[in-house]
Amino acid sequence: MEQIKLDISNIENFVTQSTIDTYKKEVLEGNKALHEQTGAGNDYMGWVDLPESINHEYLKNIEETVLSLQKNIDVLLVVGIGGSYLGAKAVIEALSGSFDNLYQNRKNPLVLYAGINLSEDYLYELRKYLQAISYGICIISKSGTTTEPAIAFRILKNDIEKKYGKEEAAKRIVAITDAKKGALKTLADKEGYKTFVIPDNVGGRYSVLTPVGLLPIAVAGFDIRKIVEGAKFMAQNTNAEQKYENNIAGIYAAARNSLYKKGYKTEILVNYNPKLQYIAEWWKQLFGESEGKDKKGIFPASVNFTTDLHSLGQYIQDGERTLFETVIAVKNTNYKLTIPENTDNLDKLNYLAGKNIEYVNEKAMLGTMQAHLEGGVPNIIIEIPELSEFYIGQLIYFFEKACGIGGYLLNVNPFNQPGVEAYKKNMFKLLGEK
Ligand code: PA5
Repeated sequence: MEQIKLDISNIENFVTQSTIDTYKKEVLEGNKALHEQTGAGNDYMGWVDLPESINHEYLKNIEETVLSLQKNIDVLLVVGIGGSYLGAKAVIEALSGSFDNLYQNRKNPLVLYAGINLSEDYLYELRKYLQAISYGICIISKSGTTTEPAIAFRILKNDIEKKYGKEEAAKRIVAITDAKKGALKTLADKEGYKTFVIPDNVGGRYSVLTPVGLLPIAVAGFDIRKIVEGAKFMAQNTNAEQKYENNIAGIYAAARNSLYKKGYKTEILVNYNPKLQYIAEWWKQLFGESEGKDKKGIFPASVNFTTDLHSLGQYIQDGERTLFETVIAVKNTNYKLTIPENTDNLDKLNYLAGKNIEYVNEKAMLGTMQAHLEGGVPNIIIEIPELSEFYIGQLIYFFEKACGIGGYLLNVNPFNQPGVEAYKKNMFKLLGEK
C-alpha cells in the first residue's frame, strides 16, 4: 500500500531545512499530546484514534441504513452546516463523475444539501425540485440548535410529512446528533427517527470519519470501508511512535509554520483537478477554524488551476508577497483522452497531437510552480496516486493530524471556535431573540 507523498523541497530557498527542523521537538511533543490527550482542547481529541476504533459492526450499522435508504429514494438531502456537511460533500465530489448529477438513471441517490445558508431563494428552489422526486433527509447537527439547519429542517420536515404522511416521513429521515442531549436528539426520539451519534469528543470539523461523513458518502455509493482503511493507514504512519522524519503530517505542520513565521501568512491550496474543489472548502474550514484565533493563524485560501490561472494567477505571480501554495497533485487520471491532429492547425497545437490532456495539465502544473517560485511564492506538494477512497481517507487524516499539531506549534487551541459566536450574538439581537 502506497502512502501519499509530501514534498517540501521547493520551499528551501525561502526557509532553510534547519529552520524547519527547529520545530522537531515541538512536533513530537504536540503529536504526543494529541495521542495522550494532554494538550489544549483535550475534550475533543476523539478523532485521533477514530480510524482504529471503527469496527465492522459500526460500519455495518451505517451500511444497513444506507441500503434501505438507497432502495427508496432518488435524492438524499443532507441538512447541516460547517463540519456537518463539508466533509461529506468534499469526499463525494472528489470521487464522483463531474456530470453524474445530470444523469437521469443514476445507480445511487444524488446527495443535495440544505441548511448551508440562509438564502430564501436556495431553499425555495430546492423544495420545488423535491416535489417531483422521491427523497429522504439526513439532518446533521451536533448541537441540534444551529440556526441555518434548524430553520431549513422546520420547513423541510413539514414538506416531507405532507408528501409521504408522518409515519412514512419518519422512516425517510435519519438524524445524526449528540448521543444524549440537544434539541435534535429530543426531536428524533419523539418522532422515532433512526439516529446516529456524533461522539462527544469529536468536533464538527473533525467529524468526517463518523456517521456525519460516512453515511452520506455511502449513500452516494462509495466504499466507506476503504476510506476508513486509508485513514487508518495514515493514522498508523503518523502516530506518536513514528520518528519526526517519517511523519509527513508533522513535517507539513513544521514547514507551513516556518513559512508563516517568515511572513507568508496566506496558504493557498491548489488543485489541478476540479473534483478537489470541495476538499479545499473542507480544508479551509479545518485550518481556518482551528488556527485562526488569538490574532494568529495562516489564512487558508484555495484556487482551482488551470481555471484560476486566468484570473487570480496574476495576483499570485505578481501581487503582495505573503503567499505560499500547497499543491495537491493527482498522479493518475481515471480516464485517458488524447489531443487529435488537425489538418489546418490554426491553433498551432499539432505538436501536441497524440498526447494526453493530463500530459498538458502536468506541464502546466510544473511550469506554474516554477513561475511562482521565481515570483517569490514557495510551494509545498502533496502527491496522491489517484482519486480513490483509500487515498482520500489518507488525505483526510493527514490534514487533520497536521492541523492538530500545527495548532500546538502556533500555541492555540485547535479544537475550539470562540470567534464564531460574535456574529451570532449580533444576529440574534437584531432578530429580537428573547
Ligand atoms: O467545526 C465546527 O464545530 C462547526 O463548523 C460546526 O460543525 C457547525 O457550526 C455546525 O454545528 P452543529 O453540528 O452543532 O450544527
